[in-house]
Amino acid sequence: DSDRINIAIDGPAGAGKSTVARKVAEQLGYIYIDTGAMYRAVTLSALRASIEPQDSRALAALATSLDIELLPGDKGQTVLLNGEDVTDSIRSREVTLIVSLIAANETVREVLGAMQRKLAAKKGVVMDGRDIGSHVLPNAELKVFLTATVEERASRRFKEISGKQDVTLEQLAQEIADRDRLDEQREIAPLICASDALVMDSTAMTIEEVVEAIVKLSRTKLAEAK
Ligand code: CDP
Ligand code: CDP
Repeated sequence: DSDRINIAIDGPAGAGKSTVARKVAEQLGYIYIDTGAMYRAVTLSALRASIEPQDSRALAALATSLDIELLPGDKGQTVLLNGEDVTDSIRSREVTLIVSLIAANETVREVLGAMQRKLAAKKGVVMDGRDIGSHVLPNAELKVFLTATVEERASRRFKEISGKQDVTLEQLAQEIADRDRLDEQREIAPLICASDALVMDSTAMTIEEVVEAIVKLSRTKLAEAK
């Protein structure tokens, strides 16, 4: 139906995608889907099963056997892995450090990509990730590629986790840069700006400014779709 569109928000780590996507979805009355959380859930499961990121057969078997559910909640979304609430544990440093290696696996990407397409079939979805506009939802009516300098992104993350995880700003910046490189350089569905995506550099923008800009763009797209 033409009174709702799909919105894809991609970009590197810490650009503000999840924060902004959640608020845009709230304002439009849409469903927010954090695809990174799905890759994190598979990663947590691989860690628990002591599966090495290089073991692509074991990873493929794991990915096809998992039951991952995303439930909309007041603090964003709740992530269930085989019925267990893993919303907090998928944000651990252990998971963050290897998620990009797990996300390079072809079967993992196929399984999660299919789930994501299904979730967006009805439209009215704001989905954030790395390959949403370029690969998962190539027909999304609005595609935003959200960026910020690596220094700014590291400093945002640092503020978010300070006191919770034992890591310096310099370490964080290095880890974010490493993860971006892995995501950009993988063979299957790498992090890339889709040719029809709008690039938004949020380095000097507040969350509210980014949200407002995307909501405005979505209203224009909605009017066009009618
Ligand atoms: O929130 P943060 O930027 O730390 O990352 P995330 O969105 O939770 O994604 C974690 C990782 O999952 C990324 O670094 C990618 O390796 C992978 N990912 C992906 O490959 N494709 C997506 N659509 C979303 C995430
Ligand atoms: O999902 P992604 O990794 O792209 O970023 P995020 O987890 O949504 O945002 C990282 C941190 O930057 C959060 O603590 C936000 O509050 C903060 N932030 C932002 O998202 N956008 C700005 N314009 C400024 C700060």
